[in-house]
Amino acid sequence: MRDVLNPPSTGIDFTDWYRRNRERSTMLFDVVDAQAYASRPIPLRHPILFYEGHLPAFSFITLARDTMGIKSVDPELERLFQRGIDPADAKAAAAASRSSWPERDEIIAFGKACDEVVIDCLRQAQSAPAGSREVQAAYTILEHEPMHHETLLYIFHRVPLEHKRKPSNGAAPADGAQPPHDLVRVAAGTATLGAKRDGIPFGWDNEFEEQRIDVPAFSVDAHSVTNADYLEFVKAGGPPPPFWVQRGDEWRVLGMFEEVPLRRSWPVYTTRDQAIAYATWKNARLMTEAEYQRAAFGTPGGEERALPWGDAAPSGKFGAFDWQTWDPEPVGSHPDGASAWGVHDLIGNGWEWTATPFGPLPGFTPMVTYPQYSADFFDDLHFVVKGGSPVTSRELIRRSLRNWYRSAYPYVYAKFRCVR
Ligand code: AVJ
Ligand code: FE
Repeated sequence: MRDVLNPPSTGIDFTDWYRRNRERSTMLFDVVDAQAYASRPIPLRHPILFYEGHLPAFSFITLARDTMGIKSVDPELERLFQRGIDPADAKAAAAASRSSWPERDEIIAFGKACDEVVIDCLRQAQSAPAGSREVQAAYTILEHEPMHHETLLYIFHRVPLEHKRKPSNGAAPADGAQPPHDLVRVAAGTATLGAKRDGIPFGWDNEFEEQRIDVPAFSVDAHSVTNADYLEFVKAGGPPPPFWVQRGDEWRVLGMFEEVPLRRSWPVYTTRDQAIAYATWKNARLMTEAEYQRAAFGTPGGEERALPWGDAAPSGKFGAFDWQTWDPEPVGSHPDGASAWGVHDLIGNGWEWTATPFGPLPGFTPMVTYPQYSADFFDDLHFVVKGGSPVTSRELIRRSLRNWYRSAYPYVYAKFRCVR
């Protein structure tokens, strides 16, 4: 049987991928006006301009400087833009903030200087042996940039609408029908977390090693909890979600480029704390990470799939991911992407909150190209999210990929469903 987790790594053109990433970055920084560019819409993050320097700096540092030994282009800007922040609260954020930043022209010129060297290094990495540090560094920077595209978007979500230019596909997707409240029974069986080191062309350190876990049978919602479902909770006194806006006695939802009447059929994006509060109110709970793996990739026949829909490469047909829309779609909009059990939207339309604290899998070792990537967050304060959102790139869609956020972090594109 062919190994479903071992797709060929040939055909991935590093420089082409890098250019696509850089083009999207340019497009994104053009969405906001100058005032927003210099602003800090999320107090726990650096101002938007930081990211325009961080992306090329990180790529240059990780691949060119620290892997291939190329000399610095600008040591001071490299230091300034090397790493973002994830402080616990406003006080820690204030301590990590700086009062002055370079002008945009200077940041762009620095980025261009980094890009030139990086592209040259990517050409060399393209012919380096699989498993080499060069190849690992290439993937590290190539997956890092689209992760930040998503981070940028949830930061942009907090920028007042009048400071953003709405692109032609920027309208909030229309509402749809309410899905049935179907429960799906997932039989007891094995869930695979992570991957074998030689099983995938690239994975972040937190994806290794492979771990197989026996999961007892459970019943889970076929569909994510919707805005309409959650509205009942708010009416009963539950906390309003961060993407809702109250206008008089009406609840509306804040899309990326417009505020619209509550889209009753969209998944509700909430903090994990709110998701747990809702589930508890329903006498239910969130899925664990292992249950998610089982619901998404397990099958009644006992085999595990590479992806919920099978072996086919991730594409927009299978879910609300890869930038088809800027906001969520009605739940269940991609039936072709449902799992073997008939659970919908496990990949796309919002990351799936789990009950599980973010931690190392057995055999974890920090990655050479970015040793702090995960290890700094093994603190029982960050929790695993799985799947992806409308603005998660297809390159980040794989069974072993794990993402993580703080439980009360209110900004992210994360949804949930209940285990009953
Ligand atoms: C994996 C999305 C939680 O944005 O904090 C980017 C990714 N790490 N640069 C984050 C990351 C360093 C990380 N997440
Ligand atoms: Fe980063």
